[in-house]
Amino acid sequence: MGLNRETIFLIGFMGSGKTTVGQELAKELGYEFKDLDAFIVESVEKTIPEIFTKYGEKGFRKLEKKALKELTVKSNVVATGGGVIETEGTLGWMRNNGIAIFLDAPFDILYERIKEDKNRPLSSIGEKELLGRYEKRKPLYDQAPFAVDTNEKTVQQIVQEIHLLLKKKE
Ligand code: S3P
Repeated sequence: MGLNRETIFLIGFMGSGKTTVGQELAKELGYEFKDLDAFIVESVEKTIPEIFTKYGEKGFRKLEKKALKELTVKSNVVATGGGVIETEGTLGWMRNNGIAIFLDAPFDILYERIKEDKNRPLSSIGEKELLGRYEKRKPLYDQAPFAVDTNEKTVQQIVQEIHLLLKKKE
């Protein structure tokens, strides 16, 4: 296929299915799957909550930006963290060095999925604060050249939709 095996970045809020979709998309395209959070956890040998406690969100964002660049390798599907786009330069990086795809879903659904998750430090900041984050980030996610509405779709449907978008791009 004529995708030139460019890195594919999945972006979107916490709970939008970036990891699950990314794993299946990688299989479909014959790409490698990489999870940005998992890569950071492995490189610093700390969990995401530990990193937030030790270095703060700011410290985490620095590690995240560095990891994003390291995972920008041909034939990688990268599931990013929901907040990566808050860091200056990351959106531009993804646009210039691969294909960014936004997995869109309504806030209420995302909130239900993440609210009890102890491995996501931001899930405990409260619904109102999270909605604030979502609203701040949405215009940034919208800058991705591709978006898929994931609402009420199966993982396979989402993967097929992405595959079709990529084929049209060729
Ligand atoms: C974050 C999202 C998380 C993880 C960290 C911060 C965010 O990734 O990077 O907890 O700021 O939205 P997921 O989007 O995979 O949950």
